[in-house]
Amino acid sequence: MKELRTQVAIIGAGPAGLMLGQLLQREGIDSIIFERRSREYVERRVRAGVIEHGIVQLINDAGAGERMQREGLVHHGIELRFDNVSHRIALSDLADGKSITVYGQAEVVKDLVGLRYGSGAPLYFDAEVTAIEGLTSDEATIQVSTPEGDVRVSCQYVAGCDGTFGVASRSIPTSELRRHERTYPYSWLGILAEAAPATEELIYCRHQNGFALYSLRSPSVSRLYLGVRPDETLDEWSDERIWAELNVRLATEEMPSVSQGPIIERSITAMRSIVNEPMRYGRLFLAGDAAHIVPPTGAKGMNLALGDVRELFSALVAKITHNDDRLIDSYSQTCLERVWRAEEFSYYMTQMLHPLFDDEFENGVQRARLRQAITSREASTVLARNYVDLNSL
Ligand code: FAD
Ligand code: DHB
Repeated sequence: MKELRTQVAIIGAGPAGLMLGQLLQREGIDSIIFERRSREYVERRVRAGVIEHGIVQLINDAGAGERMQREGLVHHGIELRFDNVSHRIALSDLADGKSITVYGQAEVVKDLVGLRYGSGAPLYFDAEVTAIEGLTSDEATIQVSTPEGDVRVSCQYVAGCDGTFGVASRSIPTSELRRHERTYPYSWLGILAEAAPATEELIYCRHQNGFALYSLRSPSVSRLYLGVRPDETLDEWSDERIWAELNVRLATEEMPSVSQGPIIERSITAMRSIVNEPMRYGRLFLAGDAAHIVPPTGAKGMNLALGDVRELFSALVAKITHNDDRLIDSYSQTCLERVWRAEEFSYYMTQMLHPLFDDEFENGVQRARLRQAITSREASTVLARNYVDLNSL
């Protein structure tokens, strides 16, 4: 069996694993990244689109922001739309001039993969980590299955950036890990369409038929979502039905219809909240979706993943270069405070915007929350600050 050695073994080439590798590489700390999927697959996976103010800075500071600065779309507000009327939340006015950047997760991943290959630091695709051992001993080891055969890697630390229900969190003894979970009675059907967006800012919409979100990727590509029942499948949603329903839910007097074009990607995503506690076990550190999941309504998942990586990077540098344990010892607690704030915000946004068909009490509460969010300056300020820069608060 092939044997390798590194300081930090990183499992997963999503935004979390790739960003950690980039930051460590710039600091002269060795790492190897293992990703079970192909390069094409991870670079095409359409997911997040909204990047917080402080996370934009992190990407720039990591030397990975060049294309994002050129192509990313800076937004200063969002719309909350309900009962077919739109209300603008002036994000930048309410949040100390800060803004969000709309730039697809797939683009962030492409930029980081390009930098990794450019630096010559190791990144293996089609390489699945199958076991992690020695987490409470002097050295950890991981087993990796690759097309060329199995590889055994010895390392000082393992970064579990392997997404939901991955091998990293499964390697923590169940007696040491607590999982807190909530599922929601709706999913999101997301599409990417070759159509110039009919809106300049993102629109979060609550309609009696369900949730809708109008987002975008570029001046010629729209990204739209519909709240659907969790048991619905893509077969039940023809292109015609998707556009018709988007038009019904999003229509206002000023914007009677969305702009349509060929649908180039579609998927249905279940909505849930998960927090794994703690985020460290011996030499293993969980970061990103491996540690927690938020429902997508607050656009927090990728931001939270990169926020963890910012902490983990500082902690590993302190330990590896100065033999200072303080930050690795506080890593889990520091992250979890931020994680629970993001869980709260995502839960609030989710529950305010997804009507329940058989619960008029819940629907009354949702409308009251929406009215408060637009009429109370205090409420809209909290929403704006959380939306724009929760990971730096
Ligand atoms: P992932 O991106 O899941 O990466 C984990 C990687 O690990 C994967 O590539 C996986 O293949 C690999 N892996 C798993 N197991 C192994 C193994 N054993 N060996 C090797 N590799 C392994 N977030 C936002 O911030 N803003 C948004 O606007 C937003 N919108 C979203 C919309 C949708 C529809 C969805 C589904 C998500 C959205 N998110 C959003 C969430 C965001 O996409 C995730 O939180 C983000 O991908 C987390 O990054 P990660 O690196 O932690 O995990
Ligand atoms: C997008 C995704 C989200 O979850 C969100 O809240 C806003 C925008 C997007 O994919 O553009």
